[in-house]
Formats: sequence, structure tokens, C-alpha cells
Amino acid sequence: MLEQIAKVRESFARALEAVQSVETLEQLRIQFLARKGAIAELFEALKSVTPAEKPALGKALNELRSWAQAAHDERATFFSQHPASERAVDLTLPGRPRPIGSVHPITQTIEEVTRIFTRMGFETAEGPELETDHYNFEALNFPPDHPARDMQDTFFINDTLLLRTHTSPVQIRVMESRKPPVRIIVPGRVFRNEAVSARSHVMFHQIEGLFVDSGVTFGELKGTLVAFAKQLFGSSVKFKFRPTFFPFTEPSADMYISCFICGGSGCRVCKQNGWVEVMGSGMVHPNVFRAVGYDPERVSGYAFGMGIDRLAMLKYGIDDIRLFYEDDVRFLRQF
Ligand code: PHE
Repeated sequence: MLEQIAKVRESFARALEAVQSVETLEQLRIQFLARKGAIAELFEALKSVTPAEKPALGKALNELRSWAQAAHDERATFFSQHPASERAVDLTLPGRPRPIGSVHPITQTIEEVTRIFTRMGFETAEGPELETDHYNFEALNFPPDHPARDMQDTFFINDTLLLRTHTSPVQIRVMESRKPPVRIIVPGRVFRNEAVSARSHVMFHQIEGLFVDSGVTFGELKGTLVAFAKQLFGSSVKFKFRPTFFPFTEPSADMYISCFICGGSGCRVCKQNGWVEVMGSGMVHPNVFRAVGYDPERVSGYAFGMGIDRLAMLKYGIDDIRLFYEDDVRFLRQF
């Protein structure tokens, strides 16, 4: 009989859920709670059980009755307080919005930089993050004892494999696979074995640029980078190039722009000196051309490489690079 009680309880609950009107609620009441309803029938059956069973079954039945009565009354009260007209489904209500994701600030910055160079005729190329010593260093004219090959900077997998420390190896891969002219940009992840802090991380992003043709000049390099910087940071941005060294370019120059936060008067972002470094660049070294089988007497070219994370930090005023890699939606939702 306990089983029957449970069954009645279940069918009552299901029927109550389907009730949409005063009329169907009344039918439910008659079916279950009235003098000849399902619950009354159970009470009738209680009379014929053994005296030993009676107390427990009686208790369960009483509980069922008061529970069902209370549920019915609650529904009846609801109906009396909310007229049918008010309960009708309002089809003009707007749908419930579902939260949608946003594009990661690093991706947004890559897309913006890519858009600018695409308009200038560059195509996008990509290469592997797991590289060989040959592509990451050797073919880029790093002498065997160059400090950048030191264990401190590079994650070595074994004697020949490593995680690329920059996007420059893709220059080599692309030049090996086609003849000049080559005009590419290469966005991608790079890795360096450095202590993680607000300013540096073991993983970050770069965009590499490479243009090779006959008679490419340093003036074209400057013109291209200045045009790029004006589009990304605004046409009033000032710039300067400062000589520097990379094994794979000669001459080499770091590009600085006037701080677009303070306009050059000095602030926290530019560390009070009015200028921020945005990228390294230079004319492709003849040894690099030789490594890919190009004739340095017949072609020339320029290359540049910028750190995307730093650009994004500058652009959005983010002061800790680690925020990019924590997947914290409170941070990501702001973009
Ligand atoms: N690969 C250099 C770096 O990671 C940047 C660079 C690229 C410099 C191309 C010159 C030319 O610092």
C-alpha cells in the first residue's frame, strides 16, 4: 500500500504542474481530494490492513492528504490573486539575452595590426611554435655562441628542437618556399625562459614583417613603419629610429613613438621619458639571404618585429601582462 500512496502522490504532483486554470484545478481537486477522490479511496483501503501495519500507513496517508491539500490551496490562492488575463503569455516580451563571449584583447590587436598591413599589400603567413635551432637561430645568422641561445632565454626540447623565441624563423621558412618578391606579416606565439612578472611572461605574441624584392631601401622600411604607426596610434604620433643590433638585420633600428598616453610630456606608461619602443627592424642581412638561397647581390629587403602584448597593454592601459593569460572573465568582459 505504501507503493500506492507514492503513486498517487506522484500523479497528483504531475497533474498539478499541468494545471493552467481555475477549472482544471477544480477537476484535480475532485479527482484527488474530494469525498470520493483517490486519497479518500486509500483511506477506505486502510480499514482492511493488519493492525500492525496501520499506524505507519495511516501516518503516510495523513501526510499525503495534508501535502496535497496545501499544494492545491497554494495554487488556488495564486489563481485568485492573478487573473487569467494577467497570466497569459506575453509574446511581445524580448527574449532572455544569453551572454556571448568577446574577442581577446591580444586577438583584437593582432587583427587590427594585420588589417593595416593587409591594406598595404602584405599577406599573412604562419609557422610552427616548435622550431629547430636551424630556423630559430642558425639561418638567422646567430653565431654559435650568441648569448640569445643561452639556456636562460630559450626553452630547449632537446639538442635541435626548441620553442621559438621569436617569429623571425618564419621569414626563413617562407623565403625557402618561394621566390621574391615576398611581402608577408607573421603573427604568432613566442616563448622565452624568463621570470614571470607584470612586465614579462614565458609566452607572448609577436607580429613579424618581411618585404623582399629588388632594390628595397631603408627609406621604404621607415615609410612603411611610420604609415603603420600613424594608422594604429593616430596621425599626430611622433617617431624616431635608434640604431641597434640584430644578427639577422644590418643596419638595424628600434622604432620609438611619442607616448600616446601623455603626448610626450612624460607619464607612467613611457616611464617619464616621453617615448615608447614599439618594434625592432632592419635591412635583411646578406647571410640570411644566402641561407635561403637568395642572391644578396640581386635582392634586398627589410624586416620588422613587434611585441603584440606590449602594444595591447599600451593601447588598453593594462599594467600587468599576466592578465592576458589568466582567463578571468571579469577582465576579458571589458573588451
Ligand atoms: N626578432 C626580433 C626580436 O624578437 C625582432 C625583429 C624582427 C628585429 C625582424 C628585426 C627584424 O626581438
